[in-house]
Amino acid sequence: MALHNKIGDETNEVLAAQAHILNHVLNYVNSMSLKCAIQLGIPDIIHSHGRAMTRSDLVNALPINKSKGHECIYRLMRILIHTGFFIEGEEGYLLTPTSRLLLKNEPLNLAPFVQAHLDPILMDPWHSLGEWFANGDSTPFATAHGKPLFDYAGDDPRLNRIFNEAMESDARLIMSVLIKNGKRVFEGLTSLVDVGGGIGTVAKAISNAFPELKCSVFDLPHVVEGLEGGNNLSYITGDMFKSVPSADAILLKWILHDWSDEDCAKILKKCKEAIPSKENGGKVIVIDTVIDNQKGDDKSFETQLFLDVLMMVHVSGKERNEQEWAKLFSDAGFSDYKISPILGLRSVIEVYP
Ligand SMILES: C[S@@+](CC[C@H](N)C(=O)[O-])C[C@H]1O[C@@H](n2cnc3c(N)ncnc32)[C@H](O)[C@@H]1O
Repeated sequence: MALHNKIGDETNEVLAAQAHILNHVLNYVNSMSLKCAIQLGIPDIIHSHGRAMTRSDLVNALPINKSKGHECIYRLMRILIHTGFFIEGEEGYLLTPTSRLLLKNEPLNLAPFVQAHLDPILMDPWHSLGEWFANGDSTPFATAHGKPLFDYAGDDPRLNRIFNEAMESDARLIMSVLIKNGKRVFEGLTSLVDVGGGIGTVAKAISNAFPELKCSVFDLPHVVEGLEGGNNLSYITGDMFKSVPSADAILLKWILHDWSDEDCAKILKKCKEAIPSKENGGKVIVIDTVIDNQKGDDKSFETQLFLDVLMMVHVSGKERNEQEWAKLFSDAGFSDYKISPILGLRSVIEVYP
């Protein structure tokens, strides 16, 4: 039956469908309001205030045109309260555990991750997704900007900087959890190479926790050139598709989800060549998403699907379920793997030759 004939009989169903569409059309309001709160420094201003902050005090402290103050800040804060970033007590606005993660001086500050992913340079490719389905480009990012993301980052210092800072902020948080709850993953190793290790945040966390473990960060020249290591930390420039430095363990955090199955097979084979046998302690440590729609709650599953499409838009990658990971490992010649789901949306996967 045509939908317009349902109006009358099933009005509620049609209105619910319209509301569903409107909600999805406007989903970006959540992201953009969050971006604005960080741009204006709202979490830091409330934090510095030291107690609940009235709207008047917030408006006075904000670097804004005061004529836009009360009403517009009320509306911005209302949606950010609704989405869990702030609460409004009797005395005024307060931070939540989520907005605490956006404070500049918070060691686990995730603001750089928000800022990079909501920067026009990483948002523009979304407008090219439909066009990309019809053309021959590798990614919507390449359709929007003329070249793949990692090539663009090599030519554009601003993208290189904001991307590396985003990865650094994620790495700080994930590694503090991993070192606390999954230290055993690194025990017994004498050397480790973090392939695609960015500016070295992951390797620094491991080298600090295990002073006897020799850690290297391996990445493209524009990422690691000029960076200085320390006692048990060094930087190596290279291309993981050509060769990977030898070590007991190779770490791949948020690397394989950037690439197609064919490219992952190439990377994993290079990693296998770089490590000793399982009996001699060799392994690859993958930190990535394992999509699991059985156990995960709806929000986690949706976020994993968001990440999956993000990987299609920015790079030529994807998020994988356990069966897909198992096939990838066995196709690259690995004998076994162990998944530890200890990192929220992501897992640690130890892969054995
Ligand atoms: C998504 S980032 C992950 C960074 C880091 N592992 C983390 O999770 O914080 C992907 C990294 O892979 C690096 N990369 C891309 N292509 C590479 C290649 N061919 N060889 C080595 N590293 C590469 C990028 O420069 C970038 O630092």
